Amino acid sequence: METKVMGVVGSGQMGSGIAQLGAVAGIEVWLVDTDSSALSRATKSISNSIQRFVSKAQLSQEAGKDAMNRLKCTQDLEELRDADVIVEAIVESEDVKKKLFLELDRIAKVSAILASNTSSISITRLASATSRPHQVIGMHFFNPPPIMKLVEIVRGADTSNDTFTKVKALAERFGKSVVCSQDFPGFIVNRILMPMINEAFFALYTGVAAKEDIDTGMKLGLNQKMGPLELADFIGLDVCLSIMKVLHSGLGDPKYSPCPLLVQYVDAGRLGRKRGIGVYSYGKEPEPVKSLARL
Ligand code: NAI
Repeated sequence: METKVMGVVGSGQMGSGIAQLGAVAGIEVWLVDTDSSALSRATKSISNSIQRFVSKAQLSQEAGKDAMNRLKCTQDLEELRDADVIVEAIVESEDVKKKLFLELDRIAKVSAILASNTSSISITRLASATSRPHQVIGMHFFNPPPIMKLVEIVRGADTSNDTFTKVKALAERFGKSVVCSQDFPGFIVNRILMPMINEAFFALYTGVAAKEDIDTGMKLGLNQKMGPLELADFIGLDVCLSIMKVLHSGLGDPKYSPCPLLVQYVDAGRLGRKRGIGVYSYGKEPEPVKSLARL
């Protein structure tokens, strides 16, 4: 059956974009966050993003208005009781996500699919927190979800074919292309991307080169749109660090050990663009603590 009502839990960078995709595709969307200011920011950013699509004539004014009317924000998880699909996009912590999946399993109707936008956490383990592991799946969007064309669908050990087919159809309804990964740490894209970002931090940490040279080298030398350090700031350094930890513990190879400089930046609250400061400074704040490379 076609998805009519969708829940999105977590209204940060990713959750707000996923909610936007649902609302534009004609689905009633409940966007949930524990933090009311995050919900206000999400509403504003969704409205601005929809306006940009309208001004580029990629969406009519009317369709944009209808999409905004289909979006409802709440701090109450119980509102998700009628959702056909719930996409979780909260903080990248297995314990916190498991607690949420347990709650969602209680609240959601029996037929509902529980999807996670996790970048790296085991879908099989999240599924095991519920009584419906065959209806739990990874639906991994890329940042920003309204723009990026890919959805990586991750099949847990018990994910059913029916769940996979429904979630694939939903991603395609959002205009996305789908790749399918089995449930191993990092899935496809982050398994390859995060070690590259981590290595870029090691290059900075050990004084191989300045951050600008590392990014320019990778951009122009490999025809990448963003350098790895710039991309890390865009993703969020806390997210990158969590993924490296998952790769390290899940695959057991010391080559995935997080770079100490990445750890230090996260400890200092330099989380990237979302905080106005990461490897680079974005506006207000002065240039922060010196990197170890310059000590
Ligand atoms: P974010 O930090 O921008 O947003 C997370 C939101 O979740 C916050 O608004 C927070 O208040 C809310 N939250 C935390 N715990 C909650 C709970 N128990 N119930 C309801 N809301 C809760 O994080 P972001 O970047 O949007 O990431 C979310 C998820 O998406 C993570 O699992 C991350 O690994 C994944 N992801 C992130 C990408 C990125 O480029 N940032 C790309 C693809 C996936």
